Amino acid sequence: MSQNKYRPATQLIHQGKDRDPATGASTIPIYQASTYHHDGGAPGGYDYARSGNPSREQVEEAIALLEGGVRGFAYASGMAAIGSVLSLLKSGDHLIASADLYGGTWRFITGVLPQQGVTFELVDTTDADAVREAITPQTRALFLETPSNPLFQITDLRVMAEIARDNGLFSVLDNTFMTPLLQRPLDLGIDISIHSATKFLGGHSDILAGLATTADPVLGKRLKYFQNAFGAVLSPFDSFLLSRGIKTLKVRLGESQDSAQVLAERLSTHPAIARVWYPGLAGFEARERHFSQASGAGAVFSFEVKDEHHVTGLLQKAKLPIIAPSLGGVETILTHCWSMSHAAIPEKDKIRQGISKKLLRISIGLEDIEDLWEDLEAGLS
Ligand SMILES: Cc1ncc(COP(=O)(O)O)c(C=O)c1O
Repeated sequence: MSQNKYRPATQLIHQGKDRDPATGASTIPIYQASTYHHDGGAPGGYDYARSGNPSREQVEEAIALLEGGVRGFAYASGMAAIGSVLSLLKSGDHLIASADLYGGTWRFITGVLPQQGVTFELVDTTDADAVREAITPQTRALFLETPSNPLFQITDLRVMAEIARDNGLFSVLDNTFMTPLLQRPLDLGIDISIHSATKFLGGHSDILAGLATTADPVLGKRLKYFQNAFGAVLSPFDSFLLSRGIKTLKVRLGESQDSAQVLAERLSTHPAIARVWYPGLAGFEARERHFSQASGAGAVFSFEVKDEHHVTGLLQKAKLPIIAPSLGGVETILTHCWSMSHAAIPEKDKIRQGISKKLLRISIGLEDIEDLWEDLEAGLS
């Protein structure tokens, strides 16, 4: 990839290819084709769209470029990316995963993998000794989220990469919250980085998409085989929208992160708020660890209100945020984790994890910050 030499802001714009090789068009067109002519019976560069499509290749090259991977993969959703990557595991294998996880990932690991004969243990991955102790002769992989969703637990990625290497495991990080701009897991030794590109990378709450990349050519080959065999690939149209979203990631994320910092600080002193979880706050307990591996705090934070009536007040009175289970859009998104993003997790497990009915997560968009503040204050009054 000739764009390797450029800095991230330039890579976001120019991506894998910065113009259509066939026509010179300023964007890679939506190659809406399921199959390709085999001239004289011989395949050309492409043969069938599940195996390869120029629109999809654009974002696959982009994610590899942005995170220092040798190859990238685009899937129909973040969960399709997670499911496809974890299908590298086979019956009899054991997986260790962070205990605080996005609800859909929790459902896949605890509900689907066991049906395929893969056992698992959910561990507090902020505790390296607990991870070491959980390793069995059957353990093959380590699945991580940092910051975790929704409780912002910070796992030391360098230490996890070392544990994985020493024990012959492959390590996977869901890098959705940070994006390639704020955290580059492959540089820290993680084997596979995954994104729900539905979030910041797409950026406009108008597509579902998943991305994965690895710096290991052998893993890359296996992921390619599984992506083609499983077929949960990103469509040409959604690839086009994702490529377009990626171009503006730096300005969107920078602006949203600045606003998140101010709003998290203001909320942390608001009388209706019990606690705010955001790595950008001076009192955030794992702040040093977070900033040893990430260059920003991101644009999402969680907070707990003092009384459940504040939850109802916010969900009913706040006018600007879309109340929904997502994040990373141009609009602010307010999530009631208990009933939305983490609905798949049974009540007793949520309580054990520390997810209460009073917990909310907010992803700050691009609205004027004072409008957002007035809206949140009105919701909490
Ligand atoms: C951290 C994280 N990972 C993965 C996913 C799943 O992605 P998708 O909804 O694109 O399947 C989500 C969705 O909310 C998420 O927040």
